[in-house]
Amino acid sequence: MNSTLLWFLPFSLQGLAMALDEFAFHRRRVIPRWEWLGHALDTSAFLACLACPLLLTPTTPHLWLFGGLAAASCLLITKDEFIHQRLCKGGEHWLHAALFLLHPLVLISTGFLWFQVGPGPSHEFPMPSQLLGEWMLLLQVILVAGFLVFQLAHRPGLKPLEEGLPEINNTIYDGLGERWYDATDDPVALLRAEARLRTSWVMATLWTEFGPRSLAILDVACGGGFLSNPLAAAGHVVTGIDLSADSLAVARNHDITDSVTYLPMDARKLSFADGTFDVICMMDFLEHLPEREEVIREASRVLRPGGWFFFHTFNRTPLSWLLAIKGVEWFVKNTPRNMHVYGLFLKPSELVAICAREGLEVEVLRGVRPRVFTWAFLRMVITGRVSDRFRFAFTPSRQVGYCGWARK
Ligand SMILES: C[S@@+](CC[C@H](N)C(=O)[O-])C[C@H]1O[C@@H](n2cnc3c(N)ncnc32)[C@H](O)[C@@H]1O
Repeated sequence: MNSTLLWFLPFSLQGLAMALDEFAFHRRRVIPRWEWLGHALDTSAFLACLACPLLLTPTTPHLWLFGGLAAASCLLITKDEFIHQRLCKGGEHWLHAALFLLHPLVLISTGFLWFQVGPGPSHEFPMPSQLLGEWMLLLQVILVAGFLVFQLAHRPGLKPLEEGLPEINNTIYDGLGERWYDATDDPVALLRAEARLRTSWVMATLWTEFGPRSLAILDVACGGGFLSNPLAAAGHVVTGIDLSADSLAVARNHDITDSVTYLPMDARKLSFADGTFDVICMMDFLEHLPEREEVIREASRVLRPGGWFFFHTFNRTPLSWLLAIKGVEWFVKNTPRNMHVYGLFLKPSELVAICAREGLEVEVLRGVRPRVFTWAFLRMVITGRVSDRFRFAFTPSRQVGYCGWARK
């Protein structure tokens, strides 16, 4: 009985090492798609080995099959070393080395357990040690199959910012000039259409909460002033900052109140004192740079306690890839490459977590989508132009774009 349990020891050690690898190391780093799939492949090959003793009697051909599968499995688990070399640090390398040693030991001990159990499920009067062996073989298969399901369902450590992301093209805003306001053959027309929905929502929300009070509002990455200018027209004291001096000039030209303070500034380093603003807006900006934590930290710093933070960005889902990246590239004229980069899209849960870390509690999240069953949408698909009748709408689904607000 004791010796039967002993054969289970390498498997237990391997389980502990795998858990450490999964929860201590994989979660701290990026897992590229191929490595993630490779891990699932390793587990599948291991499962195939473990299934042999459970399903087959230990005859010579079956032993050859088991040996072949075991050798392939031992080789297979080393394949990711090319990726590990780039992405892992010392501790994880050491753990992998331990796993490479444990893996053949587990397979050898499984082979011995197989012998101990004997001629398989057909034997009539099994000894207690045989029964225990059978249970242990079954337990191994159940645990490894469960781990495989976990691996497939959960891609650990996947961060949007994988190494080698294409660089987002933020220079396009510089050359737009008046096209910010009148181009229909450019994706900026979609931004304008989206801004129509967002601006009225922000204004209505502020009115409901603060009534006619004039608020100090900062519009971060304000672009051509689609939000800043209407907010100023509604009586608020608005500051708009953007990296693009050209865009700021256009925004200024369209400010009928002549009251907005437009400043060239990097959102990663705001030159305002702590707690300066009642409201901060970041529309269509978080997906334009990798340093989201930094810009939200800065926004939170310059927001007064109890102040509001409005945002709009894109979710990282296959649907948003199809509609917000590929759809726009295929159907809207003059869409430059890398205007959006999928890896920079942000899942709502990620945004909520960043906000929480920076002292902002997200209170409202609303999905945003284009109205697809309209003539304007059809016209865009056929002509590549986005007319001023093109509309966006709020939707319960946050699969594509979403906006919301958080309170400090
Ligand atoms: C998609 S536009 C959004 C403009 C505006 N918020 C709107 O919704 O109409 C993105 C803007 O981000 C600006 N931008 C990019 N990186 C920036 C940074 N680090 N700091 C400030 N603005 C930045 C670009 O110049 C551009 O105007």
